Amino acid sequence: MHYQLGNIKVCTEPDYAAMSRRAADIFADAMAQNPDAAFGFATGSTPLGLYKELIERNKRGEVDFSGITTFNLDEYYPIKGDNDQSYRYFMERNLFDHVNVRKESVNLLDGETADAMLECKAYEDRIRLTGGIYLQLLGIGANGHIGFNEPNDHFPGTTHLVELTESTVDANSRFFESREQVPKHALTMGIRTIMSAEKILLVVSGANKSRVLADMLLGHITPLVPASILQLHHNVVVVADDEAAQDIHGMLGRR
Ligand code: GLP
Repeated sequence: MHYQLGNIKVCTEPDYAAMSRRAADIFADAMAQNPDAAFGFATGSTPLGLYKELIERNKRGEVDFSGITTFNLDEYYPIKGDNDQSYRYFMERNLFDHVNVRKESVNLLDGETADAMLECKAYEDRIRLTGGIYLQLLGIGANGHIGFNEPNDHFPGTTHLVELTESTVDANSRFFESREQVPKHALTMGIRTIMSAEKILLVVSGANKSRVLADMLLGHITPLVPASILQLHHNVVVVADDEAAQDIHGMLGRR
């Protein structure tokens, strides 16, 4: 199914596997169109199926990572890069170690830096120097966060240090041995960084994201739902499975 909601194109698929394939089609097309560009990657469980698809397509020679530069959205802070819950570790294990990306073209925020402000500024400079991000992949938190831009009284600008909300610490504690081990801070691209990408691909899966997906697409643009700012971007595609899309199907009628 397709919906055009203002600037945002929404594709819904029956299940997670189909959602992942559809997202991989969009990602692979963008890579083929712009094989030397910078691409923004995301963590979380939602993009895992998309990454598996891209790995398989890379093995079959259908997708080429050799010319691209990568930037990840966010990283816990502080965290060691070899911690198996760091986003560096996640990306290596779930994508970068299995595709022909050049290691020197992979950029992640450094969760071990002594100077978080300097690291954030240097990251912005690196993005700018590569000519900006062509396609940014996003997931969404159940509270509407993108990257680690949490609900707030304003939309944060560039890459910065954030304190995670209790609900995000709770949600992410499923990956750690205990809640105490979840870092309480993170480094994240800001809303302005994300909005500067030429194209945005948001993947959404599961019934627990249904409410927030409807809010971000159909509600007011508000920093209380950070993803709602995407209504103002000129080139956004949302790919959702039917569980995540159940509220928008209900509000708009299946098309
Ligand atoms: C984390 C990440 C986000 C991600 C979100 C949702 O907090 N910082 O980038 O989109 O969680 O994750 P999941 O896909 O596991 O629901």
